[in-house]
Amino acid sequence: MLRISVVGLAFAMAAVAATDNGSPTFNKDVLPILQKNCQGCHRPGEVAPMSLITYKDARPWAKAMKVAVVTEKMPPWFADPNFGHFANDRRLSAADVNTLVAWANNGSPEGDTKDAPPPLTFPEGWQIKPDMIIEMPKPFHVKATGTVNYQNIRVKVNFPEDTWVVAAEMRAGNPKVVHHMRAIVLPPGSTWMAHAVYGESYEEGSEAMGGAKEGTDLLGKFNPGLGAQRFDVDGSAKFVPKGSDIVFNIHYTAVGTEQDDLSKVGLVFAKEPPKRRYWMSPGTPAAFNLVIPPGDENAEVVSESTVGVDHAELVYIQPHMHLRGKDYELRAIYPTGESQVIFKGKWNFDWQVGYQLEKPLLLPKGTRLVAVAHYDNSLNNKYNPDATKEVHWGDQNWDEMQSGFLGLVVDVNTNTAQIFIPSGPSLLPRGKSGPTLALGLTK
Ligand code: HEC
Repeated sequence: MLRISVVGLAFAMAAVAATDNGSPTFNKDVLPILQKNCQGCHRPGEVAPMSLITYKDARPWAKAMKVAVVTEKMPPWFADPNFGHFANDRRLSAADVNTLVAWANNGSPEGDTKDAPPPLTFPEGWQIKPDMIIEMPKPFHVKATGTVNYQNIRVKVNFPEDTWVVAAEMRAGNPKVVHHMRAIVLPPGSTWMAHAVYGESYEEGSEAMGGAKEGTDLLGKFNPGLGAQRFDVDGSAKFVPKGSDIVFNIHYTAVGTEQDDLSKVGLVFAKEPPKRRYWMSPGTPAAFNLVIPPGDENAEVVSESTVGVDHAELVYIQPHMHLRGKDYELRAIYPTGESQVIFKGKWNFDWQVGYQLEKPLLLPKGTRLVAVAHYDNSLNNKYNPDATKEVHWGDQNWDEMQSGFLGLVVDVNTNTAQIFIPSGPSLLPRGKSGPTLALGLTK
């Protein structure tokens, strides 16, 4: 962090020198940066606490913005730039950082309104044009205080025919209390949530969901700033088998007052038969057997899955951990023995950021995907709910997880239960720590 700041300040000084005869102004130089990189979240009704739309909005935040961009706290983005290229990369260029810094250091002038770009218009309501909207049949009541377990709510849809979906958008009924949520496809014959009463909420854990075994698929997701998701990569779409229902899986946070939430998901159907299938793993590879010793400030946990089908292309990576998570790395070990780090990044529980690969990455059958994550279970971790506890897998924030939501494009007739087969460290019995790379199963 310190190193980044020093580099940032050096940039800043260079920028100030360069703008001696005219420092950056809000209208000409700063506003375009805010429009492109910040206003998606920093506007009324969105996730960020303050608006950065107008000069009046942004002026009081000039110094805070400088610090936030120099320390790379904003925009939120956690991928190590040395590994992979991502289409949704939010990082600012060094030039943009310089501009924001120079503006803050030079009295934050407004400049001429003639220089301002036209204001952005943000579509109210749906970002997509849904062909179908699925809503929770009744509101979920969120208590004023205390922890709320993950809620699973089965909604009767009973899709009348096999359906291909090219886009999905989940909308929080009450964004104040919805931390994140997912719309899960529940194909006919699933055992998970089989006896659930429609509209009632259940706390059956994610382990009960059985990972990908039953063909469950994530249709839509919501987390702050995520927006709608598209599944049409080179003519692909998501498959929902006839007779499926949808399970809303929601993580609520209490906010000090009683609240109700009625969330929904909108779907856009494919207009023509898709060429490929877009499939989102409901958490793979996963370390259900993880053990994090009390006090350990850098506990390593490794998990692995082997690709069991042909023509699978990776297009999306969203790591998942809880409050003790520090970092996450995903490696591919190809059948040739060659190994490649596909993703490496810091973990931040508040931002469940997903990374969209700029180009699909072919994972030949037999490729091992190895996830390596680290956790801080010491008192140094200010988010740590309890440094004296040995931590195992569980849904709650005080338990841990080590898994990834991976988006893949596969042949339309692929058996999705075969896409990822747990292997290596994921199959080990629970030990006293880890499983770790040092076990030697993974090179
Ligand atoms: C994906 C959504 C998102 C984007 C994009 C985003 N912000 Fe934020 N920002 C937030 C949220 C939420 C908070 C409050 C929580 C926090 O501080 O982490 C925040 C907080 C801040 C703060 C207060 C920081 C503090 O220390 O209190 C500043 C300043 C800020 N953002 C500036 C920016 C700037 C400048 C940009 C664009 C270059 C930007 N943000 C882009 C969501 C976003």
